[in-house]
Amino acid sequence: MVTRYLFGSPVETEAVITPVETSQGFPPALNVLQQKEGLLSFSCKLEEEDIVYGLGEAPGGINKRGHLYESFNSDDPCHTEEKKSLYGSHNLIVIDGSRHLGMFVDCGASVTFDIGYTDPEVLTISPSVGDFVLYTIEGSSSEDILHQFRKIIGRSYMAPRWAFGFQQSRWSYATAEEVRSVVSDYREHHIPLDAVYLDIDYMEDYKDFTVSEERFPEFDEFVREMRQEGIRLVPIIDAGVKIEDGYDIFEEGKKNGYFCKRQDGTDFVAGVWPGRTHFPDFLNKDARRWFGEKYKCLLDCGIEGFWNDMNEPAMFFTEEGIKKVKSYLADFDFSDQSANHYFELTNQASGLANRREDYAAFYHHIHGKFVRHDLVHNLYGYNMTRAAGEAFEKLYPDKRLLLFSRSSYIGMHRYGGIWTGDNQSWWSHLVLNLKMMPSLNMCGFLYCGADLGGFGSHCTRDLLLRWLALGIFTPLMRNHSAYGTRRQECTCFGDSKAFEGIISLRYRLIPYLYSEYMKACLEDRLMFRPLAFQYPEDKIARHIEDQLLVGESIMIAPIVEQNAVGRTVYLPEDMKLLLFRDAQVVREKILSKGWHYFEAALDEVPVFLRKNKLLPLCEPAETTDALDFGNLELMSFNDREITYLLYDDDGLSKNYRMPGNQRLLTVKEPD
Ligand code: GLC
Repeated sequence: MVTRYLFGSPVETEAVITPVETSQGFPPALNVLQQKEGLLSFSCKLEEEDIVYGLGEAPGGINKRGHLYESFNSDDPCHTEEKKSLYGSHNLIVIDGSRHLGMFVDCGASVTFDIGYTDPEVLTISPSVGDFVLYTIEGSSSEDILHQFRKIIGRSYMAPRWAFGFQQSRWSYATAEEVRSVVSDYREHHIPLDAVYLDIDYMEDYKDFTVSEERFPEFDEFVREMRQEGIRLVPIIDAGVKIEDGYDIFEEGKKNGYFCKRQDGTDFVAGVWPGRTHFPDFLNKDARRWFGEKYKCLLDCGIEGFWNDMNEPAMFFTEEGIKKVKSYLADFDFSDQSANHYFELTNQASGLANRREDYAAFYHHIHGKFVRHDLVHNLYGYNMTRAAGEAFEKLYPDKRLLLFSRSSYIGMHRYGGIWTGDNQSWWSHLVLNLKMMPSLNMCGFLYCGADLGGFGSHCTRDLLLRWLALGIFTPLMRNHSAYGTRRQECTCFGDSKAFEGIISLRYRLIPYLYSEYMKACLEDRLMFRPLAFQYPEDKIARHIEDQLLVGESIMIAPIVEQNAVGRTVYLPEDMKLLLFRDAQVVREKILSKGWHYFEAALDEVPVFLRKNKLLPLCEPAETTDALDFGNLELMSFNDREITYLLYDDDGLSKNYRMPGNQRLLTVKEPD
């Protein structure tokens, strides 16, 4: 049962799209604390057995207990363990244990979740403003609560099937020639590949919706040429619009008042990739429609997918910030050489990016109201992606396009997926990737993934291989790395056989992964589940954080430590370990419920098949278009006749409910 509590008069976020009855007063399950200046906090006691799920793209574990989190979309490429915020704000939590209770705080401003951080036995939620909506959700289990939640926020975005292919990216392939050479390296090494990303350098001076004629001449021809190679190009779109006379996007936006304003009505300016930029006011529906239509120029060239970036919005600096630092330096006392003085000095410079003061210095026009940005900050990236999603719906009502974003809020899950931003080539970020998947699913984000191999820092061969061995299960499977780091394409680490084997296995798994993904979208369920959801009575399974169920048939237990040759795994029921090398099973063993140790070399991928479940695999191919779903190998571990409902469609149109889209696969009882 979902109940809505309204506080003050919040801006409508449109996260929840199904009407829910509003209850007067306060939620009985929570203690309400009156904070200063009319702000409210809600708290409740956490019992020892309680697990707290949720928060989507947040640092920490699957169980969120023990940390302090702040929902405030942040461009922070150095997300170490103590960080409170990342790029997305997904204010849903579920308490599972002594009771089952879900809470969604619908609020575009900052919200703090103290989940047993100050007091290990107390959970406190504190919105930074007095205007918000709180939903409480009661149900028989966490999965039931999440299902109810997903019903009220609307169906998740569904990516085209080609977006399940392996995708290669780097900041930045600067010329068409460089893209051609990346593609031919992959093809030469027979490593499957479906898409290559165009980062900011495809543009002319980082101007959205332009293509550099010098570096990417005859762009539409190039897009066609790549399609003939089986490759889709996916360009980046940044939130900031370059201020430059004669640039149509800038001029139209200025003329129509579509940019965010300072309080005095002038257009707000921040420094981002193109230099001085304005931010389109995506919260204004007219500006949103205008910006969305701009994607057409690239769609007309044959582009079928986009990634929206820098949409927290990220700011390197503002003129106001620079002035402050300048005045600090003017008064700088050189005679004071104390450490504190030094720290203050460095903080001044490093604090120029993404200053909270700057987020409080510009405004949006929302349904006739002038609203200060920091009060709706978390809705910005969501509405940028909504701009694109709504335009795609009009331009191509029956075609699925790839779309995902860095910054997000619940509601955006209807328009696109997300990638989890600028991680690092650290083993701990491989673990974070694993733990985030179910939390993201809980909040409606099903098409998602991390930069495999890590974005910042220098990647190593072993890290990339182990990370890919997880990435083959995530819907978005993209290798992406930062400018200045070691080259990270799978062809750059000597012998590429191991990469070919792991990525080919991904292609073999696509019938299953795509089927599980589509069913999860269509039925408002999770594709990645913590073990506790399937085995609620199993006290050990309840606390396993480094193994996941992927769909109904398999469990994964990735190796996430450098130089490890194996790991322990907990099986909540009898399962069959399938060890793949070169996309073929090279070892298999039935293991009984309990703890086990298994080994897997760098070129091997372990998959745990559940008893009486079925895993369909196709033959590998170098592109998703070449996969044959008609000819499937059925892997099973059964003692009776079993079936699997395979969802399959044309992968591109929106005819999801066609009767032919579901096929029952059967394996007979063994003799
Ligand atoms: C941001 C993005 C990253 C991209 C870079 C350059 O840091 O998160 O993915 O490569 O900008 O566009």
